[in-house]
Amino acid sequence: LQPTPEFLEWEANFMPVCVNDLIPYCERRLKPAFWEHIRDGAMDGETNRNNVDVYKKIRIRPRVLRDVSNIDTTVKFFGHTFASPIGLSPTGSVQMCHPEGEKVFARTVAKMNQAYMCSTATTVSLEDVAAEARGVPDYPFAKTAHIPNLFFQLYVFGDKKVTEALVKRAEREGYTAMVVTVDTPRLGRRLTLIRRPGELGKRVWANFETKDSDPTKFANKGGNLGLSSNFSDTLNWDSDIKWLRSITKLPIVLKGIMSGEDAELAIKAGVDGIYVSNHGGRQLDTIPATLEVLPEIARVAKGKIPIMFDGGVRKGTDVFKALALGADYVFIGRPALYGLTWNGEEGIEQVLNWLNEELRLAMVLAGTTSIKDISKAFVRHESEYW
Ligand code: FNR
Repeated sequence: LQPTPEFLEWEANFMPVCVNDLIPYCERRLKPAFWEHIRDGAMDGETNRNNVDVYKKIRIRPRVLRDVSNIDTTVKFFGHTFASPIGLSPTGSVQMCHPEGEKVFARTVAKMNQAYMCSTATTVSLEDVAAEARGVPDYPFAKTAHIPNLFFQLYVFGDKKVTEALVKRAEREGYTAMVVTVDTPRLGRRLTLIRRPGELGKRVWANFETKDSDPTKFANKGGNLGLSSNFSDTLNWDSDIKWLRSITKLPIVLKGIMSGEDAELAIKAGVDGIYVSNHGGRQLDTIPATLEVLPEIARVAKGKIPIMFDGGVRKGTDVFKALALGADYVFIGRPALYGLTWNGEEGIEQVLNWLNEELRLAMVLAGTTSIKDISKAFVRHESEYW
């Protein structure tokens, strides 16, 4: 969308200092269909809103006199020490926000030693995303077999050959783990996609347009729902997770776990991590906020397998609360897209810097110096104060 003179005048005085400041910018800068697609959840967005609002119900319980001069935000995760427990969730269609799309995410996390999950539904192929991370000057993993900062988010397709080809490509490129999204046997009822047919363009096909990708046979159906109409809706614990286990040695993480029962089944199935997510409220509306289900999942899984988490994280205190309630690694979806829309690579770097700094300050002021020490003792639900 070409910026108007009025927008440029407004932009000249725009000086954001936190993630939420970027929302009015994106609203004015992006094409309406793109902005609505990013902003909205399924149906009328109850889950999407609750994801954000639920943090207000949790209070941090600060402790004092604990020497907080030396804060360590590093976390060890899948064998690698990351600079911070904050990473970028997989989001498709990233070129809506910036012409370089997902490449910018890959460069940023390689530079900042954080994590990024590359989606199946990208606007840049998974090979180009990996090459971008490896191309960062002085990147210590430029030539190693595997890139610790990149994970691959896998949608399982009805056609097993399609899925297997993606898995093999991600393995060959050195992605750290296979993050299987299990909450999308069908796409949720996203009203923007229905109201604005065709306005998002063909923006999710990059992984099916490369020369070594067999699966192009279905890729030309086009339309916004086209890719997801190829996802498997028979996906199940017995055959599919076992099958995935049999075709890859990479760690498998299940994204979209929202109950203690499923966390238990995931552990039984022998997967390597679980990812608490409701897809940013974009699948089934009216399911709980992710922070609400985190305690029941942590009761089952904490210490057994890594717990990843996303949904509504906009501030360092949100990250702190999620860590306190049991997450090991916290991801952001929309905030990364906001940063990218605002200022490309610098924008996303700034978003991560804000969150890293806000988390660090929350640790200082709450009286804890390392990520592993952020326990449940540091938070209370509002109702427990009365
Ligand atoms: C997503 N999400 C998503 N998830 C996934 O597994 N594969 C995908 O391709 C996408 N694509 C996608 C596009 C857009 C525009 C959004 C906003 C979200 C969900 C994403 O990974 C994550 O779970 C949520 O975005 C997290 O919530 P917040 O941080 O956006 O509140």
